[in-house]
Amino acid sequence: MFAPLEVYAMSGLGASAPPTRERLRKHVYRPDETAGPPSPELAEILSRHRGVRGALISILQDIQAHYGYLPADQLRIAARETGVPLSRIYGVATFYHQFRLDPPGQHLVRVCRGTACHVGHSLELLRALGSHLGIGQDQTTPDGQVTLQTVACMGACSLAPVLVVDGETHARMTPDRAVEIVQRLQNAAADREIDRAFGVTSAGTSSSPLSRAAGEGAGGEAPCR
Ligand code: FES
Repeated sequence: MFAPLEVYAMSGLGASAPPTRERLRKHVYRPDETAGPPSPELAEILSRHRGVRGALISILQDIQAHYGYLPADQLRIAARETGVPLSRIYGVATFYHQFRLDPPGQHLVRVCRGTACHVGHSLELLRALGSHLGIGQDQTTPDGQVTLQTVACMGACSLAPVLVVDGETHARMTPDRAVEIVQRLQNAAADREIDRAFGVTSAGTSSSPLSRAAGEGAGGEAPCR
């Protein structure tokens, strides 16, 4: 059995090339030169953690808190600025359940999968919602409306099984009621979309150029009585 240095010497590199740690490294990290300059927000996040050992998770948490997820371009810039290889950043981001690599939907629906909720059949909630929305766990509907997630425990075990929709806790859920709540969200979103298409403001008045022209015209028709 040879010691590592002896093996190095036998490899033909010779005594004139001392086996420094750097020369023996297989992969040398090269920063991504194509990544753009950091935005002021990202620069502020990075400067907050600059020089702090083991701050990668905190940096990722702050980036996600700002953007709602971890945008790929921001991770590339963060890798260059911190000197942490991008592969390591992705390794951490994909290892921890708390991080998202895709933008979340407009509504966040979370099913608690902690022990008390599991005993209360929260898996059935998850299945019912997944089949209603046509997506799996940690996915977002194609229209970008709803993201379906699970959480370990919401700290409301006496209310199990628990469903949390946009931060609002719904206690003792059943699959039917869970689907009903999400369906109401989707209906409201569809109504807003229609209102937007017709230029109806939240006050119930139309803001479309057509309606404004009709209302402003001197000889416009009298409103219905
Ligand atoms: S296990 Fe669901 S709230 Fe605790």
